[in-house]
Amino acid sequence: MAHAFQWICRNLPPSKLQCIRLPVPLSTHLSTRSMAKSRFEYVRQFEAQDACLPNCWIVVRIDGKAFHRFSDVHNYEKPNDPRGLGLMNCAAQTVLSEIKDLILAYGQSDEYSFVFRKNTKTYNRRASKLMTTIVSLFASAFVFHWPKYFTNAPLQYPPAFDGRVVLYPSVQNLQDYLSWRQADCHINNLYNTCFWNLVLEAGLTPSQAQERLKGTVAGEKNELLFSQFNINYNDLSQMYRKGTVVYWASQPVETSSDDTDPSSEPPGRNRTILHTEHCDIIGSDFWKDHPHLLGSDNA
Ligand code: GTP
Ligand code: MG
Repeated sequence: MAHAFQWICRNLPPSKLQCIRLPVPLSTHLSTRSMAKSRFEYVRQFEAQDACLPNCWIVVRIDGKAFHRFSDVHNYEKPNDPRGLGLMNCAAQTVLSEIKDLILAYGQSDEYSFVFRKNTKTYNRRASKLMTTIVSLFASAFVFHWPKYFTNAPLQYPPAFDGRVVLYPSVQNLQDYLSWRQADCHINNLYNTCFWNLVLEAGLTPSQAQERLKGTVAGEKNELLFSQFNINYNDLSQMYRKGTVVYWASQPVETSSDDTDPSSEPPGRNRTILHTEHCDIIGSDFWKDHPHLLGSDNA
């Protein structure tokens, strides 16, 4: 009897199955496989088709939700907190290590941009899958690694990050995008360094500091830092001024000098490892030094 029902369930279309009166509920007889072809299957058609265009660079940018408040509640140092930035970089390294086909990421402040290999097939290029996987992994890594960076400063509430997907059809567009984020880092950092020195060192109120900086160009801000606070802007940490690039690149394997060591690797071998740097990516040097990143290797 059970065998007969199984045969019916497997071979009749869902519309016919509805007409058969069964002595016990149909679900009892449907295997998981046949359930997938139930009359409810049509609801799948309501799902949006959101595959990213082929031949485009896919960038996912995540950004901390209301980090102005989050950084205040957690007493972040102003204008830059090395713990907070270190934790952001650590979360980004986790994402690059876990998600195949990410070749590079650039981060500053409470944001990170992740770049996929141009013709990645990950999740059939579905934007929502790519973005939500990155943003959720980033957020969980941020919380997971929090105690390593903020020792004796417990997390007060769960942080959130938003995410978006942007497609760039050419290498030039992609480089310009990354340059835009690094230029943003520089502009904000120069302003914030002036602002917080005026408030914390010179004792101005936030609105007085804002008024003092209104309309000033970069050269004037540099001059203000040097003349009033004896700060040479270019001496500040590269991480604050340039942000952080995390990328995969191969480097020669260090060989053991002990020829008899069976675990030592043969000379001349390369290994791909994750690099974390605070260098300029607006100029051409970085891209010339790492042609594999945007070249045909990653097409
Ligand atoms: P939404 O992103 O729109 O939700 O708002 P937000 O408050 O996160 O602002 P936004 O992303 O534009 O800017 C990030 C904010 O995070 C900055 O304005 C700072 O207030 C804060 N922030 C990020 N990094 C640091 C840091 O190292 N130190 C301090 N003190 N604040 C930081
Ligand atoms: Mg934010």
